[in-house]
Amino acid sequence: MPSRTRAPRRASPAAARTHDRPKTEQATRPYAVRRSPIHGRGVFATRAIAKGEDIVEYRGRRISADAADTLPDSDPDNPYHTFLFELNDGRVIDAGVRGNAARWINHSCAPNCEPYEDDRGRVIIAARRTIRAGEELAYDYRLNVEGRRTKALLAAYRCRCGARRCRGSMLDPAKAPSPRGSAR
Ligand SMILES: C[S@@+](CC[C@H](N)C(=O)[O-])C[C@H]1O[C@@H](n2cnc3c(N)ncnc32)[C@H](O)[C@@H]1O
Ligand SMILES: [Zn+2]
Repeated sequence: MPSRTRAPRRASPAAARTHDRPKTEQATRPYAVRRSPIHGRGVFATRAIAKGEDIVEYRGRRISADAADTLPDSDPDNPYHTFLFELNDGRVIDAGVRGNAARWINHSCAPNCEPYEDDRGRVIIAARRTIRAGEELAYDYRLNVEGRRTKALLAAYRCRCGARRCRGSMLDPAKAPSPRGSAR
């Protein structure tokens, strides 16, 4: 079971599902980092990427969820900014240390990418459909945040992906406590 982040300020993209997916060797990187219309920096396809193709590993140091809770803000101007990615074993990848380009991939409610954990425990960002050159890469963060989905919390995690069916939030809709507050 994926672990849950303990505090709103330490939300991290939900643990990737484990797939048995063939690996595709990349001769050259099919992506580049540049300014994004969604937020800050983003990652963009530099050539067409086939559905199912592995694009990039989400790298960084691996730390416990407790240690992640004690980290300083990854963006001093935004306490809700995160470079954390939850693993299926409950630990967290902190891409703020030894991270690579994958840490700049933004969230979308209509994503063209999907993360998965391979049999060696690596988190791989793969294409969930054919991606054209120039498209921004994005996956659904499905952020885990405990507590009631108050207006303030929803505003803190407001989504600016621009998708036609944007759900308005980077939070995991499956984890939303009911209006009466019972989480189950
Ligand atoms: C892993 S970083 C992605 C890179 C980010 N654009 C940057 O320049 O730091 C994740 C953070 O980017 C921002 N972000 C990503 N996708 C977003 C979206 N769809 N809407 C609003 N903010 C987003 C949030 O602050 C989130 O915590
Ligand atoms: Zn959205």
